[in-house]
Amino acid sequence: MKMDDTNAGYGVISMVNHWVVGLLVLGLIAVGLTSAGMGNDPQRFELIKLHKATGVIVLILALWRLGWRLKQGFPDPSPDHPAWQITTAKFMHWFLMIAIIAMGTSGLFWSLFGGREVSIFGILTIPGFEESEGVADTLQTFHRGFSKALIAGIAVHTAAGVYHAVTNFKKSGSRMFVPK
Ligand code: HEM
Ligand code: HEM
Repeated sequence: MKMDDTNAGYGVISMVNHWVVGLLVLGLIAVGLTSAGMGNDPQRFELIKLHKATGVIVLILALWRLGWRLKQGFPDPSPDHPAWQITTAKFMHWFLMIAIIAMGTSGLFWSLFGGREVSIFGILTIPGFEESEGVADTLQTFHRGFSKALIAGIAVHTAAGVYHAVTNFKKSGSRMFVPK
């Protein structure tokens, strides 16, 4: 069981990165969509606090994950996949990584430029900036709008991942499940 990635597949560190960040992002999407639909319910603000704190942690993890990927590169694609699948998968993997960072950054600065602090479970509190409504509104529009693109990307990626897990497990490996 290798920690680092090899040409043949992902190591343990990449797998832990993938599943920890992936599951937290799914949780952030669920909590974000739920709270956005709660109107004036006072519990909405508790959910927003949870979403913001977890979102900043995910942003930090995603930046570390991007650094790890840049250092390691991607494992070689399986030769038995057609070229279009290799290109699409590569595009999708970069899109997902960049989209998570863009969501985390836009959410964080939307709050800060809105003059609101961001508290990470009371351990660290980032004070809000002087309010700048125009910047905050633009970031809000981006955060809400772009979340739909991230959701669509995750849906396609998950369907492809499950499909490959089911059809190719023995041949080329479903590489986020079994470390090489
Ligand atoms: C049940 C859900 C999921 C399955 C079955 C799955 C499966 C996989 C597999 C098999 C790979 C490796 C592809 C290869 O062999 O090159 C992969 C890579 C990747 N996945 Fe997923 N995935 C899931 C959920 C997610 C989610 C929710 C995200 C992001 C929010 C995500 C982001 C990525 C990224 C960025 C990569 C590229 C490799 C890396 O740097 O980690 N995945 N996924
Ligand atoms: C890192 C990944 C993140 C993801 C995937 C994510 C995802 C989402 C989603 C899907 C929504 C619902 C959008 C809608 O339909 O209106 C949302 C709302 C929101 N997000 Fe994020 N978010 C992330 C990070 C952050 C961060 C770091 C902050 C702030 C520090 C933040 C602050 C907010 C706020 C304030 C809302 C509005 C909630 C409401 O209207 O009740 N997000 N986010």
